[in-house]
Amino acid sequence: MRYQNIFIVGPMGAGKSTVGRQLAEALAFEFKDSDQEIQRRTGVDIPTIFEYEGEEGFRNRERQVIDELSQESSIVLATGGGAVLRPDNRQDLTSRGVVIYLHCSPEQQYSRTSRDRNRPLLHTEDPLARLRELMEERDPLYRQVADFVVSTERRGTSSVVKEISRRLESDAP
Ligand code: S3P
Repeated sequence: MRYQNIFIVGPMGAGKSTVGRQLAEALAFEFKDSDQEIQRRTGVDIPTIFEYEGEEGFRNRERQVIDELSQESSIVLATGGGAVLRPDNRQDLTSRGVVIYLHCSPEQQYSRTSRDRNRPLLHTEDPLARLRELMEERDPLYRQVADFVVSTERRGTSSVVKEISRRLESDAP
């Protein structure tokens, strides 16, 4: 498969940043993370952006960062779980690189995110129910943009990275 960039999409807790970092190392690409970039630019964490600007304000910042970063080359970009909501982001990702959807169950997402306070959408009474709702709404969008889907369910990072590398080498086009 020919590619100038790799874009990783998928829900919170799927392992996008961990897998992306290791994949970038394996491919000798530069690793970028849209949430980290937003935090670097604003100087505050994601919950603070949601608090002061709402989800809409965060999505506007995310849109700007994805537009800019997706124009680079030889990067692996881990996107935030909601990046696929904006049609412009979907268009940029599909036209500027290979898109990989890292998939896992809401239960697995929950067990990976339950100790983390950095995800404002999960600051609710029932985070697992929220994860299920988000998955139902977003799974079709992840699949719409993805060149291929890789499961991270009960799997270690290196096994996932090996599968991605193999599929990048062998899959059409
Ligand atoms: C979000 C996912 C988060 C972050 C923000 C919103 C979402 O990124 O962008 O909290 O809408 O699913 P991760 O998927 O890296 O946790």
